[in-house]
Amino acid sequence: MKLERVLILAALVSLIALPAIAANTNNSVDAEKPTFHKEVSRILQAECQVCHRPGGANLGGMVAPMSLVSYDETRPWARSIARKVMSGEMPPWHASAEQSGQFHNERTLDQKEIDTLVAWAKAGAPVGDPADAPEPKSWSSDGGWLIGEPDLILTVDEPFFVEDDVEDLYVYLKTTVTEDMVPEDKFVKAIEFRPGSSVVHHIIVPGLGGIAPGNDPTIYRDGVASVLKAGKDLQWQMHYHKEPGEGTGVWEQSQVAFKFYDSEDDVKYRMLNADLGSFDWELPPGADNVMAEAEHTFKHDSKIVAYLPHMHLRGKAAKYTAYYPDGTSEVLLDVPKYDFNWQTAYEYEEFKKVPAGTRVHFQSWWDNSAENPHNPDPTVTVRWGEPTTDEMSFGFMSFINEENDGPSAFEDSGDPSDIDLTAVVAFTDKSRDGKMQLDEAPGQMKAYFEMMDTNKDGGVDMNEARAANEMLKKMRAAQQSASASEQEKKEAGTDAD
Ligand code: HEC
Repeated sequence: MKLERVLILAALVSLIALPAIAANTNNSVDAEKPTFHKEVSRILQAECQVCHRPGGANLGGMVAPMSLVSYDETRPWARSIARKVMSGEMPPWHASAEQSGQFHNERTLDQKEIDTLVAWAKAGAPVGDPADAPEPKSWSSDGGWLIGEPDLILTVDEPFFVEDDVEDLYVYLKTTVTEDMVPEDKFVKAIEFRPGSSVVHHIIVPGLGGIAPGNDPTIYRDGVASVLKAGKDLQWQMHYHKEPGEGTGVWEQSQVAFKFYDSEDDVKYRMLNADLGSFDWELPPGADNVMAEAEHTFKHDSKIVAYLPHMHLRGKAAKYTAYYPDGTSEVLLDVPKYDFNWQTAYEYEEFKKVPAGTRVHFQSWWDNSAENPHNPDPTVTVRWGEPTTDEMSFGFMSFINEENDGPSAFEDSGDPSDIDLTAVVAFTDKSRDGKMQLDEAPGQMKAYFEMMDTNKDGGVDMNEARAANEMLKKMRAAQQSASASEQEKKEAGTDAD
């Protein structure tokens, strides 16, 4: 009796299921019910597979968890796809609509594409007629690199084991760069990262191109290069993420590949970088809207190439605004909902021309309240620091100019009079009390410690660092006007001759 009921049920189920399947295969004629082969696969090819395929690109420093190439791979994700495209989480793109159409790596769907994916999921993810399917898309990186055959591949020194119990882990790794590997400065044409495992959630290598910590393969346009300095080690900030559990531990060793220009003669522009970093702030416990700002004024007529706003887990929003010498202003990039997971570089389709004297103002906002789901601890005061549980504020901006004049990607500015003492305090404050102690001060700065520590509490805090910056500025201005009047005297002297 029981068995019979089961059989009847099974028959009923198959009766219900069968017409549904039959209807599905006919759906290619029904415009209301898009099919995988006809409509959906084309959207996936155009907008998703660059990341969602085996060995997919590490764009924005993140590796997509599944392939969306074949029907069998895509089918189980149909509802999740509908949710993610409706919410705007996929494809990932965080610039405001005001800037749409300006950046060549923009990833967005139009309303019709969203409706198609949602209708497909609602209809039960029909497969459709294979005859409707587009040619499978081929990717230049299949089995290779998106940038083509690399001239140099640098690998993290040691394989790293991500333990079974790890869910989220942030670690720093290193690549030792010997003189054998990079015997002389090299002109870089392209850079591409390759994570060593799918548990690599993102990679940041500070200094690599400035615009490019762990992002799209960077392929500079012809004539544009950054310089890879001979014998300079790479530091990797790794974020691993996986389901914890027995047997889930994996070894991982990530890589970065370079292509170089054959000759310096092929290089017209050096990629220059302004970091628009600020260090002089703190986030009180629970504060939900703290702003930091920094600016860069262009010395020469320049072309802006790209932006990369960078904060950590408490990052909330970021904005770049240009103030032009004629008094007008313009929002260059607005990221109203910053997401630390996506280290997206916003690269112009057509480089943005700015006249000499243009001031770019960068603002970033943090949310240190319990309302921020990424906040690791809303009860603490947060200051500048390298771990993602501390904060940073950088508005990286790369640009070029005819003079090739400005800070270079792989070099420190090198000009000691350019030094920002608030940055020194932030970088050296190992004890994390908001002050630089004498034993934390770098060598040449120890001599000035007494002078900077005006309240004599044994530490240089941000207020004192700011005051010292002002003093440095005045000293520089005095020096400049002294040498200018020296110059005038000389010229007056020659006139008199
Ligand atoms: C720039 C690379 C990239 C593009 C383009 C992209 N994705 Fe994703 N996608 C990812 C990454 C990375 C994740 C994992 C997100 C995370 O770990 O938080 C993801 C996650 C997802 C998820 C959730 C998976 C889960 O585990 O729940 C869905 C669904 C999804 N993507 C669908 C799409 C669709 C549909 C498109 C195209 C319209 C698309 N994605 C385009 C990189 C991308």
